[in-house]
Amino acid sequence: MQLTGVKAEAGASLQIPTRMRRLRASPSLRRLFGETHLTENDFALPLFLIGGLNRREPISSLPQIYRYSVDEALLCIRSYLDRGVHAFALFPKVPHEKKSWDAKEALSQDSLIARALRLFSQEFPEATFIADVALDPFTTHGHDGLLLEGKIVNDATVEVLGKMACLYAEAGAHLVAPSDMMDGRVAHIRKALDQAGFTSVGILAYSAKYASSLYHPFREAVGSCLSFGDKCSYQLNPANRREAILEALLDEEEHADILLVKPASLYLDVICEIKKRTLRPVAAYHVSGEYTMVMAADAQGLLDAREVFFETLMSIKRAGADLIFSYAIDQILEDL
Ligand code: PBG
Repeated sequence: MQLTGVKAEAGASLQIPTRMRRLRASPSLRRLFGETHLTENDFALPLFLIGGLNRREPISSLPQIYRYSVDEALLCIRSYLDRGVHAFALFPKVPHEKKSWDAKEALSQDSLIARALRLFSQEFPEATFIADVALDPFTTHGHDGLLLEGKIVNDATVEVLGKMACLYAEAGAHLVAPSDMMDGRVAHIRKALDQAGFTSVGILAYSAKYASSLYHPFREAVGSCLSFGDKCSYQLNPANRREAILEALLDEEEHADILLVKPASLYLDVICEIKKRTLRPVAAYHVSGEYTMVMAADAQGLLDAREVFFETLMSIKRAGADLIFSYAIDQILEDL
C-alpha cells in the first residue's frame, strides 16, 4: 500500500506530462503504429452479370457500377486481378421471362451464374469465386424463399438451396454463400456438397443478415424488388444483437467456414461481438445503400467519397472483419 503511494508521489513530483501526440507526429510514425491496415486481400468485389454478349450496362441505383455480360466480365475481372483484388461475388440479373414462382431457373445447368463460373474458374485459376445461394433473383415475387399460401416456407426452400449449391460447386465456385436466412440451410448445404463429392467447396454463410433499408440499390441492380411484403420474417431485426450472435454460432455449428454480417457500418458492434466469440473468419458486407449514400453526397460536393470509404472500410476491418464485400474498392485502391 505504502509503496504504491510512494511511487505515485515520485511520478507526480517529476511532473512529466503524458504526450500522446509523439507517435502521431509524422506519416512514417503514424504508419508504423497504425493498428489496422487495409490491403487488397481484405476485399471481395460484388459483380453483377447479365445475359448476351458485349454488354456493359450502367446501374442507375449504383453510380459507377455496371452489369456485365459474361465476356465483358472477363475483362473486368482481369483488370481487378492486375490491381491485386482476387475475390469476386457473383450476382445475376435474371430476365423476367425466366423468373417463376418455384425459381426453377436457379437449378438450370445453363443458368447465367453456372455458365459464368465454368468460364471464370477455368480462365482465372488465381481468383476466388463466391456464388450467392438464394432464390430472390429467380422468383417472380423477389423473396429469398418459396412462397406457399402467402408464407415463405423454410424446409422446401432449403432443399432447393442444397441443389443450387451443388450446381455452383460443380461449375467451379470456391465458396457458396447462402444469403437467404432460412433455418438449417448451412447444415443441409454442407451435407449435400459432401455427398456430391465437393468436400473442398467452402460455405460463406450470411449469418447475421439484417432486414435493412440499405438493400434497395442492390434490388434495382438485380431486378429483385419485392412484389409484396418485406423480408422481416427471415432477416434479422435491427434491434437485436444477441440473436445475431446466436445465428452466427448456429451457422458455425452447422459447419459454415466463414460467418458474414450485413450491412456492415451500422452493425460494427455485431461484427465485433461475433469476432470475439468465434475462431472462424468473419466477413462483412458493405452493402449497396452504404455505397450509394456516400456517392450521392459526393456528387453534390458535400463529402469526399474516397475519404469516407477509406475510413468506413478501415472501421469495418477494425471491428473485426477478415473479408469485406464492397462496391467502393475502386475508390480506395490507390490509397492502400
Ligand atoms: C438477397 C441479397 C441481397 C443482397 C445480397 N443478397 C438483398 C436482399 O436481401 O434483398 C444485398 C446486397 C447489397 O445491398 O449490396 N439474397
